[in-house]
Amino acid sequence: MTAQKPEYQHWRLERDEHDIAWLYADKANAAANNLSKAVLEELYDILSRFKDDRPQGLVILSAKASGFIAGADINEFTTLSGQKDAEDLIGRGQAVLDRLAALDMPTVALIHGFCLGGGLELALACRYRIADEAPKTKLGLPEVNLGIHPGFGGTVRLPPLMGAPAAMDMMLGGRPLSARAAEKLGLVDYAVPARHLKVAARETVLRPPPRKQATGWKAWTNHKLAQPLLARYLEKQVAKRARKDHYPAPYALIDLWKAHMDDPRRMMREEAASVARLVMGETAQSLVRVFFLQERMKSLGDKKEIDVKHVHVIGGGVMGGDIAAWCAMRGLRVTLQDRSHETLARVMKRAHDLYKKRLKQPRDIQAAMDRLIPDIHGAGLPKADVVIEAIFEDVDAKQALYKEIEPKLKKDAVLATNTSSIPLETLCKSLSRPSRLVGLHFFNPVAKMQLVEIVKGAQTADKAVKQAAAFCRHIDRLPLPVKSAPGFLVNRVLMPYLLEAVTLEEEGVPAAVIDQAALEFGMPMGPIELADTVGLDICLSVARILSQQLDMPVPGRLEQLVNAGRLGRKSGEGFYRYENGKKVYRGETKDYAAPADITDRMMLRFLNETVACLREGIVDEADLLDGGVIFGTGFAPFRGGPMRYIDKIGREQLRHKLETLELKYGPRFRPDAGWSQA
Ligand code: NAI
Repeated sequence: MTAQKPEYQHWRLERDEHDIAWLYADKANAAANNLSKAVLEELYDILSRFKDDRPQGLVILSAKASGFIAGADINEFTTLSGQKDAEDLIGRGQAVLDRLAALDMPTVALIHGFCLGGGLELALACRYRIADEAPKTKLGLPEVNLGIHPGFGGTVRLPPLMGAPAAMDMMLGGRPLSARAAEKLGLVDYAVPARHLKVAARETVLRPPPRKQATGWKAWTNHKLAQPLLARYLEKQVAKRARKDHYPAPYALIDLWKAHMDDPRRMMREEAASVARLVMGETAQSLVRVFFLQERMKSLGDKKEIDVKHVHVIGGGVMGGDIAAWCAMRGLRVTLQDRSHETLARVMKRAHDLYKKRLKQPRDIQAAMDRLIPDIHGAGLPKADVVIEAIFEDVDAKQALYKEIEPKLKKDAVLATNTSSIPLETLCKSLSRPSRLVGLHFFNPVAKMQLVEIVKGAQTADKAVKQAAAFCRHIDRLPLPVKSAPGFLVNRVLMPYLLEAVTLEEEGVPAAVIDQAALEFGMPMGPIELADTVGLDICLSVARILSQQLDMPVPGRLEQLVNAGRLGRKSGEGFYRYENGKKVYRGETKDYAAPADITDRMMLRFLNETVACLREGIVDEADLLDGGVIFGTGFAPFRGGPMRYIDKIGREQLRHKLETLELKYGPRFRPDAGWSQA
C-alpha cells in the first residue's frame, strides 16, 4: 500500500498492490465527517485527477471511528444569502457526486457507523455499497426532519435502486435503516462483519458483480402509469403526520418524483431548485434552529463528569419502571426496587415490549433484559452510581425513604428525585447531606420524551447538577437545568393551556373542536386528549399545586370528572371515551361553528406563561427555553419555539391580544410583566 503525499486536508488517498485507490474521508479537526463545501471541493479535485492516473477501482471509506459521513454541513445552511446562493451550493454538491458516478471504474462505498443525508447520497453515487453489519451502522436520508429533502441526487438515484415505495418511505419518513435491512431492500449490496469489509470491497473491485437495480414490480412503481396512484397514496400517508402548510418538504418530494422521475437530468436540476426553495422557507429555517438547539442542549451534559455503570431506581410505577427500562436499554446495569413483586413483574413485561420494538434482535433484547434486575430488597443500592427515587408523590414517604437509604449510598453516588411538584428544599430536609439531592424530572412516556429537567434546589451542589446532566447524556436524553419552582418549566407552561382548553369544553365547545384547533396550530396532540392521556387525576393535582402558587383558577369541570371516576385513557373515560385504549369520538362536530378566538385563548395563555418563566429565570435564556418547550411539550417545531414565534409575530401585537382577552375573560389573561422587557 502506498500513501500519496498528504496534500489534502480532509481526505487521505492510498493505492494498494492491485492498483485500487482507497480514499479515506477524514475531515480535519472534527470527530465526524460531513460534506462541507471544502470537503466536497477536495473530493472534486481528487476525482478529477483520476482521469490522467486511472486506478483499477475506487473504494471510499471513513477514517473516523464514529462512522462514514454524517450528512451535509448544516452550519452552511445558516449562511445562505438567498435562494440563488442555496441553488449554487446544492448544484455544486451534485456536480461533485455526478463526477463520482461517471467514473469508468468500479466504485465502492465502504460504510460503517453513520451514513446519513449527503453521506448516503455520496454512497449512492458509487456503483456498489458494502456496509458493516453491526447495529451501529445506520443508513438514512433524514433531510425531512430539517424541512428539506435530499439534494445531492438522492431523490434521483434512490427510487430506481430500491423501487419507489421503499425509497419514498426512507425519504419521507427520515428514519435510518440498519445494514441488514438496507441489504434486504437493495440499498446496499452486502452487509458483512467489520473484519470482512475490506476484503469484500477489494473483491468487488476486482470481480465486479452486476449492479443493483430495482426489477419487476419494484421498477414498475417508478413508471408514469403507476406514479399517480402511488403519489396519491403517499400524500395521504404524509397528511396523517404533517400538514402541507406546516411541513411542505415531503409534499415537494412527492411532486418532484411524480413530475420528473422519467428524466433524470431534469430531475437533478429540479431537485436543487426544490431544496433551495425549501431551505430558505420558514419551516426549514425553524427546524434547522431546532437542530442547533438540540445540539446545544446535548452540550449541557458532559459525559466525562460522571462514570456511570449502575443505576438504582426506587419505585416501579409508571415513571420508575419506564426510567429503569430505558436506562437498561441504553446499556447500564439497573436494579429496580419496589415493594410489590407484581409491580416489578409488570415492569419486566413492559420493558420486554419496549426492547422488542426498539432493539429487534433477540440477542440485544436478551442482553437488555439481563441488565434490568428486579430488586425487591434494594440489594443494588450500595453499588449504584446514580440512585433515582420515583415513589408516590408524598412528602413524608419520600423523606422517610431518603433517611433510610442515605447511610447505604456509595460516597459519591448521585441521589435524584423524579418529583414533579414537591420542592427539593422540603425533600432534602431528612438528608444529612442535603447538597447531594438533585431533581431528574423525566416525562411520560420516558422512551418518547427526550427532555429531562435537571432541578437545582437552593441546597443542591453544582457538582450534583453537572453529574445529573452528564447522566442524561449517558442515556441519550436532553438535559435542561431549571430553577426549583412550581411546575419547573414544562408543566408550568402546559398547565394554563390545558386549563383553558378545559374551560372551553366547560363552556360547551366540543372536545374534538378544541383539539383540532391546537393541531392546526401545530401541537402534536390536542390539549384535551393530552389531559386524558396524562390522567385527569394527575392533571388536577398539578393544577391545584400551581393554582395555589400562581393564582391560576382550576375549572370545576376537571374536579367533577375526577370525582366521577373519569380519569382519562387509563379508566376508559375522561373527556373522551376509550375502547381498547382507542379514542372514540362523541357527537358530530362538522356543523359546529367554533368561536373565533379558541386558538388565541389557548396559545396566548401558553405564551404568556413562557414569557413569565423567562422573566423569572426558570431557564437561563430564551434559546434554552425554546428548546425545552419543544422537546418537553412538542410545541410546533416548525415554528422554532415559543420565543421565536413571539419574535416573529411581534411582542406588541401579542400583548395587545392578551389585553383584549383580559377585558373579555378576566385576569387569567393579564399580560405578564415580561412582555414589556426587552
Ligand atoms: P406510581 O404511583 O405509578 O408508582 C409509585 C411506585 O412506587 C409504586 O409502584 C409503589 O409500589 C412504589 N413505592 C412507593 N413507596 C415505595 C418505597 N418506600 N419503596 C419502594 N417502592 C415504593 O407513581 P408515578 O406516576 O410513577 O410517579 C412517581 C414519581 O414520579 C412521583 O414523584 C411523580 O410526581 C413523578 N412523576 C410522574 C409523572 C407521571 O406522568 N406519572 C411524570 C413525571 C414525574
